[in-house]
Amino acid sequence: MLLELTHVHKSYASPPVEVLRDINFQLADGEAVAIVGPSGSGKSTLLNILGALDRPTQGTALSDGCDLAALTEPELAAIRNRQIGFIFQLHHLLPQCTVLENVLIPTLTMKATPANRHRAEHLLKRVGLQQRLEHRPGQLSGGECQRVAVARALINQPKLLLADEPTGALDHINATGLGQLLIELNKEQGVALVVVTHSTELASRLPRRLELCDGSLH
Ligand SMILES: Nc1ncnc2c1ncn2[C@@H]1O[C@H](COP(=O)(O)OP(=O)(O)O)[C@@H](O)[C@H]1O
Ligand SMILES: [Mg+2]
Repeated sequence: MLLELTHVHKSYASPPVEVLRDINFQLADGEAVAIVGPSGSGKSTLLNILGALDRPTQGTALSDGCDLAALTEPELAAIRNRQIGFIFQLHHLLPQCTVLENVLIPTLTMKATPANRHRAEHLLKRVGLQQRLEHRPGQLSGGECQRVAVARALINQPKLLLADEPTGALDHINATGLGQLLIELNKEQGVALVVVTHSTELASRLPRRLELCDGSLH
């Protein structure tokens, strides 16, 4: 199992609030799932735990059978960098870097290789931006920036793509296109996909849907 959460609870101390209650969730290699739920229901908190950005207060989170609680912060950072690609509602591209440089940022902790550059170019071609390699984010549309963020998330060939409301800031046409792109990349690259979304249209196109409500996942 790529990910396995067992009896996971998450509370914040101040102000005291129990955000996740007894979450049990399994994700297989290459699987795709949508998570829907009202604002404040704990979707981002859950995604942060799946992405090893945060730890449960109670319960266990296993990644490939390995208990994330047993890992040190540098070990968790290595997992986040090598095995997980993150896409957020806002693209968080660096404005001073070109499109190509932005996609290569997750490779900076490794030795620069021509293979990384080729892969970045290949991914940018795949997301339809082969004519935009030297542009800067300020010269692109919102939909184009989000496609750069998708290429950046995939540069290290992760096993898991986590997307937190990735179409939330896009107009309808761009949102539909980006959702379609994520679904295609899940199949083509064999990367597992967890998408938190408010879009019932996008959720309905994924093979599995879960709802988070009052901290419980069903
Ligand atoms: N660091 C924090 N400290 C205290 N409460 C928090 C913190 N982060 C989130 N929360 C609370 O947890 C709840 C769930 O937040 P979140 O996971 O961001 O929900 P969603 O992504 O579904 O909108 C919210 O009520 C929020 O106020
Ligand atoms: Mg959120």
